Amino acid sequence: MRGEFEGRVAFITGAAHGQGRVTALALAGEGARIAAFDIARSLSYPGYDMGSTADLESLAAACRELGSECITFPGDVRDDAAVTGAVDVTTERFGRIDILFNNAGICAYGLAHELTEDAWDAMLDINLKGAWLVARRVIPVMIRQRSGVIINNSSVAGLRGMGRLSHYAASKWGLTGLTKSWAIELAPYGIRVNSIHPTGVNTPMNDGLAALEGLTAKEIAERSAGNLLPVPWIEAEDVANAVLYLASDRARYVTGAPLVIDAGLLSR
Ligand SMILES: NC(=O)c1ccc[n+]([C@@H]2O[C@H](COP(=O)([O-])OP(=O)(O)OC[C@H]3O[C@@H](n4cnc5c(N)ncnc54)[C@H](O)[C@@H]3O)[C@@H](O)[C@H]2O)c1
Repeated sequence: MRGEFEGRVAFITGAAHGQGRVTALALAGEGARIAAFDIARSLSYPGYDMGSTADLESLAAACRELGSECITFPGDVRDDAAVTGAVDVTTERFGRIDILFNNAGICAYGLAHELTEDAWDAMLDINLKGAWLVARRVIPVMIRQRSGVIINNSSVAGLRGMGRLSHYAASKWGLTGLTKSWAIELAPYGIRVNSIHPTGVNTPMNDGLAALEGLTAKEIAERSAGNLLPVPWIEAEDVANAVLYLASDRARYVTGAPLVIDAGLLSR
């Protein structure tokens, strides 16, 4: 049986572990070929574990086992040369890019009056400017094709305020604004742009934040405790399901939309 994304190509940032990896595997399982971009090295800020080159290699192997292909790119979304190189190699090798999942991101706590400029810059440069730097190189490919779907991984923090996370929330509200503005610019070319807004997700980011706070992942989820549905967090597979829907032709008239995957949190 042909997969739903047979013949399509997905460029995914932050693909080494967490939501990016699970989404890459879900798309590969439906026949998509994958370009997996990830910093794949440690960062002094926020200080928890990023993905690794071993993660990227194991992702490529797992895609092959699913009968798909995966090219991996260790690189920083803040580095235009790395981004441009990866987009060029992807189009040379696969001929097109149908789906861009702007997913790379970091998170860290800090009161506004205690944040350093370095922390502010890292948060905004990775989570917001990085998404633009990648889209800037992918959009021309999609315009040439007259088709494509961009999905920006924002957060519930992109639709509400969050104490001790103002720089994170600013970056995620920024993604919400980019999404709606790009949807306007790109609709004439048949390109759709949407944002997703997960509540806490059970990924290495969650574990990393908990460790920085000296808590267990469960304790940190209970502290946030805003989900209506009685779950501490959602799983990366729940995010992947949303991305696959938005990337598919089933969502052909969905653009400029914020899709919440929040276990009801934002209804409060
Ligand atoms: N985990 C959550 O609770 C949660 C909730 C809502 C939204 N989000 C967002 O979802 C996205 C994915 O988060 P996750 O939970 O999978 O996190 P994660 O930390 O588990 O994975 C993030 C991936 O991004 C990569 N990355 C980080 N900085 C990068 C950079 N500068 N260039 C390239 N790659 C980089 C990391 O190496 C890692 O593989 C993020 O944008 C995050 O803000 C997370």
